Amino acid sequence: MPLVTLSSVLKKAQKERYAVPSFNFSGIEDLRGILDAAQEVKSPVIVMTSVNIGKYWGIKGVAAYVRAMAADMDVPVVLHQDHTKDVETLKQCVDLGYTSVMIDASERPFEENVELSNRVAEYAHAFGVSVEAELGHISGAEEGAGDSDEMLTRPQDAQRFMELVEADALAVAVGTAHGFYTKPPKLDFDRLVKIGELTKVPLVLHGGSGVAEPDFVRSIECGITKINVGTELRYEIMQNLKKNFAADPDEVDIRKLVSSGRGVITEVAKHKMELFGSAGKA
Ligand code: G3H
Ligand code: ZN
Repeated sequence: MPLVTLSSVLKKAQKERYAVPSFNFSGIEDLRGILDAAQEVKSPVIVMTSVNIGKYWGIKGVAAYVRAMAADMDVPVVLHQDHTKDVETLKQCVDLGYTSVMIDASERPFEENVELSNRVAEYAHAFGVSVEAELGHISGAEEGAGDSDEMLTRPQDAQRFMELVEADALAVAVGTAHGFYTKPPKLDFDRLVKIGELTKVPLVLHGGSGVAEPDFVRSIECGITKINVGTELRYEIMQNLKKNFAADPDEVDIRKLVSSGRGVITEVAKHKMELFGSAGKA
């Protein structure tokens, strides 16, 4: 089927209380592994490029390739541009056929965040493309476990933000961080519930690699509808590659070293789909 919007998959998830997994991919093997998982367990799925991966592949190529892959599938696939600060890059993603983009102006003052997020929303919505914004700031795990008070999303601010911004989803800082954690993250579920009550917008949990499984389940009960996972997939595919390379360092066909990574990613992604409750929802 054609690529679908973030808004369409998250509205259903919000209504039926599950979360759609959103995976960062780096290359063809992990992308294919993620899509195979979605197809096998009949789950909607979001595949995301970072700014750097977009530059590495070329977003024109990414958009064309993912669109072609999704066309042969019968589960909903969203192509999403993750954490981007620059409006022009996001406009380009919209023009090339991405169905969702994330404007990350979370490090800017509140009013500037509102202004930039709306600028992106105005452009994207004119083409039927969804927009995720961020309020509060989700840090890197190396900067601490992401629970320092000034970075967390304040519920009253989230309410005001969503009164002013036409976003389809809101990334919130409730204790998670990007990258593997050096100490287990402590999620602030009360804050999450309050944000959900005051905004009614589908909420996004970033920094999914290393979050304890019961915490995922509870965060979904508290209103999370999209969960981003990146580092864990990168780690797993590299472990597989290292093992294959160690077993045959003289191999000259790169496919023999990388192709089994697909299956590894499929298993990890399928597990997340079952855990987040999106399996069977396509
Ligand atoms: O936006 C990307 C995600 O928040 C991924 O975070 O790499 O810690 O899983 P992660
Ligand atoms: Zn993130």
